[in-house]
Amino acid sequence: MRPMALRLTPPDGWRSPVRYSPQTPPERLSGTWHQARPARIHAALAAALARDPGGWLVCGTSAEVRADRSMMRVVAGQEIVLWRDTDGNLRAGGGACPHLGASLGGCDVVAGRLLCPWHGLALGDRPRRDWPTYAAHDDGVLVWARLPLPGEKTTDAPTLPARPPRHQSIAGIVTHPVTCEPRDIIANRLDPWHGAWLHPYAFSDLSVDESESTVDRLVLDVSFRLGRHFAVPVRAEFACPDARTICMTILDGEGLGSIVETHATPITAPGRHPARTVMTEVTVATSARPGFQAARAFSRLVAAGIRRTASQLWVDDLTYAARTYELRRRAAASANDASR
Ligand code: FES
Ligand SMILES: [Fe+2]
Repeated sequence: MRPMALRLTPPDGWRSPVRYSPQTPPERLSGTWHQARPARIHAALAAALARDPGGWLVCGTSAEVRADRSMMRVVAGQEIVLWRDTDGNLRAGGGACPHLGASLGGCDVVAGRLLCPWHGLALGDRPRRDWPTYAAHDDGVLVWARLPLPGEKTTDAPTLPARPPRHQSIAGIVTHPVTCEPRDIIANRLDPWHGAWLHPYAFSDLSVDESESTVDRLVLDVSFRLGRHFAVPVRAEFACPDARTICMTILDGEGLGSIVETHATPITAPGRHPARTVMTEVTVATSARPGFQAARAFSRLVAAGIRRTASQLWVDDLTYAARTYELRRRAAASANDASR
């Protein structure tokens, strides 16, 4: 039998997005601190914090809430149980059973109702005075519950960034808890300059386009590194749709329209310290290339690759976020001592 012919020539008009770009050795790397001006980062953070999230908090991924089992989360100091009704719609309620307080996490869902594991009380099909329910939203990738924090005005749905169509994209999701407040996660992303210095294995040739950037939007050119010798240059934008979300959208280059959404959900109640926050990062990657459609067939593997890369970066970034939180706490403690 003749071996199957293997096509090694790219399709007509195909041009590789990969550029030869040797990684700068550490001793020749230039610091970026003079571009990463604290006043500018703080102004962008203040603008982001002024955007009301409408009470919406990311509680997990859509896939985690199954039809037959509930899921529990602690957000903003409160236990929230999430489940699905008979139509598959997302529902949310208090995490403690109103009878004797059993945890409603991981319990059976039958005919769209939660069955308490201790004595079988069925919950969720009608309102009860002794058990709170919350507005819930499933955006197809993430699940949200509405628990307005102090000062927030509720909205009907969370403000969602524009994602590429699902049938033309691959989503990868990473979550990490960290000791900090949501604002520290956002502040890390509003300092893109750290990327080229703190993660030289992942980014290089980073420059912010000042003429296109404002306090609400950062436009930059950056190369995503593929090892020591090659990189993929792109133009990207960072913007915050609300105080707990920052999105990076690819404006030009490989993956045009792809988005990385970083969501920060407080675990602890507002004002409680040490504060704990969950970072949820969703990468929705798309490409017009024929090869990308083939990659969709391997989307689980690709999503695993996205998760691996994001996890590596977040080891550094969560340390950064924890540090800015710690410094703020120390400053607050000193101010407290001084006022006594
Ligand atoms: S604690 Fe839930 S039914 Fe008794
Ligand atoms: Fe980073």
